[in-house]
Amino acid sequence: MAAIDWTVNGQRRRTDVAAGAMLLDVLRDELKLTGAKPGCGEGACGACTVLLDGRAVKACVTPALSARNKTVVTIEGLARGEELHPLQQAFLDVEAYQCGYCTPGMILGAAALLEREPAPGEARVRQALEGHICRCGTYPRIVEAVRRAALEMRRG
Ligand code: FES
Ligand code: FES
Repeated sequence: MAAIDWTVNGQRRRTDVAAGAMLLDVLRDELKLTGAKPGCGEGACGACTVLLDGRAVKACVTPALSARNKTVVTIEGLARGEELHPLQQAFLDVEAYQCGYCTPGMILGAAALLEREPAPGEARVRQALEGHICRCGTYPRIVEAVRRAALEMRRG
């Protein structure tokens, strides 16, 4: 066990982490943040995606110890109080989901993209979300939601 200091969804924390523990397990099991979903467990589906210092990472293959002194955002921490993040709102507005299992990871992957590229075209959104699998096949609406949110965010 080792204690790490980190910031999770805006809160400074100290958390005991087992050697070899993955970030996904610590978030879900220790912090009870279950928005990041377990899927393939090998970095191939994107269901477990969270932001680590603003970058989208697959939490199932990211050692928890690597989050020491860093900032993690999960889907639970994306909204600003009562106000949904524009991506969350856009996913709702265009119903960019069916079962919703891939949705938290998709949204955080898109959030990392829009942080760096405020006006991605359709092809770029598809490319950026390539590592995210939606078994329900809602890709066209996901892309539409991301582009709608990008427009909303540019309008401020
Ligand atoms: S569960 Fe992490 S990428 Fe699939
Ligand atoms: S909405 Fe079901 S996996 Fe994407």
